[in-house]
Parts: sequence; structure tokens; C-alpha cells
Amino acid sequence: MRKNIVAGNWKMNNSLDQTKALIEDLTTELKEVQLANTRVIIAPSFVNLQQAIQNTENNVIEVVAQNMHYAKSGAYTGEVSAEMLTSIGVKTVILGHSERRAYFNETDESLTEKVNTAIANNFDVIFCFGEQLKDRESENHFNIVEVQLKNVLFELPADAFKNIILAYEPVWAIGTGKTASADQAQEMHLFIRNTLSKKYDAKLAESVSILYGGSVKPNNAEEIFSKPDVDGGLIGGASLKAKDFSAIVKAI
Ligand code: 13P
Repeated sequence: MRKNIVAGNWKMNNSLDQTKALIEDLTTELKEVQLANTRVIIAPSFVNLQQAIQNTENNVIEVVAQNMHYAKSGAYTGEVSAEMLTSIGVKTVILGHSERRAYFNETDESLTEKVNTAIANNFDVIFCFGEQLKDRESENHFNIVEVQLKNVLFELPADAFKNIILAYEPVWAIGTGKTASADQAQEMHLFIRNTLSKKYDAKLAESVSILYGGSVKPNNAEEIFSKPDVDGGLIGGASLKAKDFSAIVKAI
């Protein structure tokens, strides 16, 4: 059975002290929560990863990275490698976030290299993709999503998909307060699963967790998560408040 996953992408937020405080509050909020078949994930900034790992040692929260370079090591000023992340105990990485595509020129080519490096280093990858507003308005959204998946993931062997988590994040819904409706999310997630099934097979498609991201809040999480092909969420703004994030976790 595929896993439910609620992941908080903290983006460029939280100092060391704020990181410690938020984890402490989250730990308290989640203490009594029954989490069968569910992963709860947070992605703090690189500088706070090690502290976050220490502070989550005795609870269910997993700490993951927001990005990673594809090279093993070398002259890549400001970058972080798979080996470095592994050495501090990080085993999962978010790749392909639309903010990285938009502001840091990540392309399908560079993302293919990153995903391949991550898989070769036994990471789980939360792979983000999704259409822009203009694509949806021109009814090209299914095509865009299919191309994003094909260009980066569809050379992978079937076996690699046990380490892939998909995160559909329509760009027009990120940080805008404009959520895709639960039906829009379900429609796209079913399309994604069918696309995986055609390329690989139905069993593989059924096994992959597909998360929705884009203005998920405590007041809409339950409806979105109730859809059969939505296996959880990738949460931005609401993951920065312990009460909101834990309410979203409880909605899964
Ligand atoms: P918001 O939840 O703030 O819209 O951000 C979504 C996101 O980008 C998660 O990666």
C-alpha cells in the first residue's frame, strides 16, 4: 500500500532558534496523533538540517533537504552534495520545486542529473512539477505535466520508483491562497497515475505516492486529502506554524 505523506517545505525561513522552537511545538502537537502508514516530513534550510535531525531523533518527524547538486564534489561554490547530506543522516531530497526552476534556472536537463544522482545515492526524491497559470488557461496543463514527468523521470528503471514521491504543485496555486479545487487535484493526480501506468505498469502506478501542493491550509486539507489519488500534501506557508501544520497532518 502506498504511503500517505505530509511534508512541510520551509523554504528560506527560520533561524536556528526558530527551527528548534518550531520542532518543539510540532512535537507537542503531534504527540497523541496516530500516524499509521503516514510519513511526516519537514524540510528546513541546509544550515539548520543537522540541528533539526538532532531535535527529531525521538519522534516521527523526518528531516529532508530542499535541494541538492548532481555532482559528487568539486568546484561548485555554494552547493551541497548527496554525500554531504548522507553524512548528516538526510535520506530524502525535494527536487524540481517551481521556485528553483523559476529563480535558479533549473531545467529538465539539470533535474534529470539531480534525480539520477539522488537515486544512485539511495535517496528518496520528492519530485515537484506543475503547470503555470497560462498553461491551465490555454488548457495545456495535462500536456505540460506529462512532458515534465517524461523529460526527467521516464528514463528511470521501474525499480527506482520505490524511491520517488511525486508532488503536483500548480504554480498558480503556490503562495497565492488560490488552491486547486479538490476535484482539479484529483483529476490531475489520476492523469499522472494513468501516465505512469502507460509508461510502466498499473502496479507501479498504484504504488507511487502523489502529493498535492499549493495553498494547502487547515481549512481545505481534509477535502483535498479525501480524494482517492491524493496521497498527501507538500505544504509551504502553513508548515511554518505548528498548529496549522499539525492540523493538516491530522487531516490525512
Ligand atoms: P504554499 O503552501 O505556501 O502555497 O507553498 C506550496 C509549496 O510551494 C510547497 O512546496
